[in-house]
Amino acid sequence: MELSLDEFASLARERLDPAVWDFIEGGAGEERTLAANTAAFDRVPLRPSVLRGAGSPHTGTTILGRTWDAPLAVAPVAYHTLADPAGEVATVRGTAAAAGLPVVVSTFAGRTFEDIAAEATVPLWLQVYCLRDRSLTRGLIERAENAGFEALVLTVDAPHLGRRLRDLRNGFRLPAGTVPANLPVDGFADPAAHSRADFDPGLDWSVVEWLRSVSELPLLVKGILTGADAVRAAEAGVDGVMVSNHGGRQLDGVPATLDVLPEVAEAVGGRLPVLLDGGVRRGRDILAALALGADAALVGRPVLHGLAAGGAGGVTGVLSVLLEELTDAMSLAGLRTLADIGPSLVGRAPDHPR
Ligand code: FNR
Repeated sequence: MELSLDEFASLARERLDPAVWDFIEGGAGEERTLAANTAAFDRVPLRPSVLRGAGSPHTGTTILGRTWDAPLAVAPVAYHTLADPAGEVATVRGTAAAAGLPVVVSTFAGRTFEDIAAEATVPLWLQVYCLRDRSLTRGLIERAENAGFEALVLTVDAPHLGRRLRDLRNGFRLPAGTVPANLPVDGFADPAAHSRADFDPGLDWSVVEWLRSVSELPLLVKGILTGADAVRAAEAGVDGVMVSNHGGRQLDGVPATLDVLPEVAEAVGGRLPVLLDGGVRRGRDILAALALGADAALVGRPVLHGLAAGGAGGVTGVLSVLLEELTDAMSLAGLRTLADIGPSLVGRAPDHPR
């Protein structure tokens, strides 16, 4: 039985075609940001508080009016069908078997929104790439909304896909049978080329207004890395921000998400929920993110590792390990609920208070 997310990653690596593994695992450029995301969590120790009478921890939280079993969600990742033929359908089944946690479904899902929704007992959110073809984008949103999706997540860090050297060296093309199930089928085999042709590189903040005119669903923006952009997002009227550098796949050299989180959280000042992804691999990482200002964290690659390692059961395994680690860490750190988490969990208090 796998006891850590590393073990699921090793299994996935054994099972996946090397070029598919590189597509999933890789980052942009020299992969400095990719490495920084996990390193940032390694640098933040947790400071327990003992004899607090904490008892058994409770991990539940409320985000945008919905109760989650834990401050954790599945990040939008294209083509789950690369890791398992059942793709996102297996992911939502596997997630539900672990806990009530939302799954953010990519614009480039390998299964249709309707098929995914038919199997889902967990909340579904739609990740939106705003394409040059606004009517196509609008159609995607309407279909997801009709299928019961509960929120939109606009990705704002991708005027086109970043320079991913592994994919360029491998001449990566999607394997036969892997297609974006919710888009017209042609022209997608080379994701980087497709993004240059079809993503709208000229987006500005008025896209928020446009999305509001298209849908009444709550809207989050994904890919915020500065306090200034977080303020702009709040002023533009979004319902939440996601601190993300796309798992190090866009502009190489941008900071680790955990490192910019305090700046973003301070700028938002509690007005909006702040979510974070990038490098979350252990339950304690979720605690560190919450202590530094996040309301919840998301995991991307680990979910595909679970899928490749064992289909829906592998996804359940990955999320269950994270939840078990989270509960264990809360208990050992003296935290009864998430409300007990504050800056002192990661801060440097003086050794000898006066
Ligand atoms: C992604 N990510 C992503 N983001 C997005 O907004 N839309 C998408 O379609 C995808 N697709 C995608 C594919 C693959 C293979 C990966 C690895 C990532 C980024 C994703 O949502 C998230 O930001 C990162 O994966 C989070 O980092 P970790 O958990 O993978 O370290």
